[in-house]
Amino acid sequence: MPLTVRVATRADVPVLSELIPASARALSAGFYTAAETEAAIRHVFGVNLQLIDDGTYLVVEEDGVIVACGGWSFRPTLYGGDQRPVGADDAPGDTAKIRAFFVAPGQARRGIGGLLLEACAEAARRAGFRRLELMATLPGVPFYARLGFREVAPVVDTLPDGTRLRFVRMERTEPGRGRVPGRFAP
Ligand SMILES: CC(C)(COP(=O)(O)OP(=O)(O)OC[C@H]1O[C@@H](n2cnc3c(N)ncnc32)[C@H](O)[C@@H]1OP(=O)(O)O)[C@@H](O)C(=O)NCCC(=O)NCCS
Repeated sequence: MPLTVRVATRADVPVLSELIPASARALSAGFYTAAETEAAIRHVFGVNLQLIDDGTYLVVEEDGVIVACGGWSFRPTLYGGDQRPVGADDAPGDTAKIRAFFVAPGQARRGIGGLLLEACAEAARRAGFRRLELMATLPGVPFYARLGFREVAPVVDTLPDGTRLRFVRMERTEPGRGRVPGRFAP
C-alpha cells in the first residue's frame, strides 16, 4: 500500500494525541533517558492546534492509518505543543519553521520522516520561503543532518519541572528565488 500525505484536520487530533507520546517513547531511547522523555511529553511534545488550523500540519497514511505527522509554519513559534509553545523570531523573514515530526513506533527508518520533511519543505517553498529552521530533539539530529540541515547551536531548555532537555537548533537553505513579501501575515 503506498504512503500518502495529506493536510491534518482537527478530526485527527485524538489519533495524533496517542501517536506523539508513543513515538517519543519508542524512538527517543538511547538519546534521552526515560525520565527526560516523560518530561518532554508533559511539557514539550504535543499537538499544536494553530498548525492544524493554518493548514500546515501534515499526516502520512498507509492503508488509511496515520503512521506519521509533522508540519511547517510561517509563524515565529519554533517548537512545543499547545501546552508550552516556545518562540523564535530572530531568523530572517524568509525562514519557515519545521515543526513536531513524529513517526509511529515500528515505522521508523522506512523513509517516512524524509517523505514528510520534503512535503513540508515543498509547501514552504511554494509559499515563498527560502530557509527552514527547527529545534531538533537529539533523535532528530542525525535525521535532519542526513536531509541537509546544519547544526546552528546546541540548546538546553529547562522545563517547568526542572528537567534540562538538550536540543539542537538546525537550519537548511532551500533553492529558489526568495520569499514573496506580504504573502502571509501571522
Ligand atoms: C526523527 C524521526 C522523525 C525520523 O523519522 P524516520 O521516518 O525514521 O526517518 P527516515 O526513515 O526518513 O530516515 C532518513 C535518514 O535519517 C537518518 N536517521 C533517521 N533516524 C535515525 C536515527 N535514529 N539514528 C541515526 N540516523 C537516523 C538515517 O540516515 C536515515 O536513512 P537510513 O534509514 O537509510 O539510514 C523519528 O525517529 C521520530 O519520530 N523520532 C521521535 C520523535 C522526535 O524526536 N522527532 C523529532 C522532532 S524535532
